[in-house]
Amino acid sequence: MENIISVKNISKTFHRNSGDNTVALSDVSFEVYKGEILGVVGQSGCGKSTLARILARLIKPTEGHVKTNGSIQMVFQNPIQSFDPRHTLEYSVAEGLKNKHVPKAEIEKRVSNLFNLCGLDVDLKDKYPHQVSGGQCQRAAIARALIMEPDILICDEATSALDVTVQKQIIDLLMDIKAHKDLTIIFISHNLPLVEMFCERAIILKEGKLCKIYQKKTEPIG
Ligand SMILES: Nc1ncnc2c1ncn2[C@@H]1O[C@H](COP(=O)(O)OP(=O)(O)OP(=O)(O)O)[C@@H](O)[C@H]1O
Ligand SMILES: [Mg+2]
Repeated sequence: MENIISVKNISKTFHRNSGDNTVALSDVSFEVYKGEILGVVGQSGCGKSTLARILARLIKPTEGHVKTNGSIQMVFQNPIQSFDPRHTLEYSVAEGLKNKHVPKAEIEKRVSNLFNLCGLDVDLKDKYPHQVSGGQCQRAAIARALIMEPDILICDEATSALDVTVQKQIIDLLMDIKAHKDLTIIFISHNLPLVEMFCERAIILKEGKLCKIYQKKTEPIG
């Protein structure tokens, strides 16, 4: 199995001005296989988002290192807050490509394709984030991430703010996208049953430590 991410002995300690330190991650090692949907599960505060931010290179680990063999995009928990309220969905989805100076016609084509792929009606292009539902906004957030053609998509509690039926629709969308694209997905959630349903394999964090690797249909390892 080819690895796309290799995490070796990472730890992260946050130093507070008050002098208190928080150990968010402690000696975590695992591999992510190319093309898999890897779950990351654990209770609130166990270090899931810290791990996501380290993988996306938004922050550095205190110790250890991460080897990544591809580009990464993230989808966050709260879709409406993750969009700039002053811009239309189309503008926000296209923004990353504009920054890369991709020609206008190409951008329009890719935005249309992604609205289509993500199950968003073209009429929604001109809407502002507060004018659409949470589920529609999360579809746009997925479109915004995918337009950059990442190799790896990190979903950090991407369905947690949505009600159960919409949560299921977003999972179905991710499965559908996965079937069309050569994508590796890291699916972070505190909801173990959801992860068991969606992921072949998952790492389970407890108080910053990797306590188990869950593998579907086989006994847990570790
Ligand atoms: N920037 C920061 N400064 C200080 N402490 C932090 C910072 N970010 C996270 N922490 C602490 O690190 C620990 C892990 O936080 P993290 O956000 O990674 O947890 P989580 O598993 O994503 O939780 P949740 O399920 O609530 O999203 C917590 O104790 C948190 O308070
Ligand atoms: Mg979190």
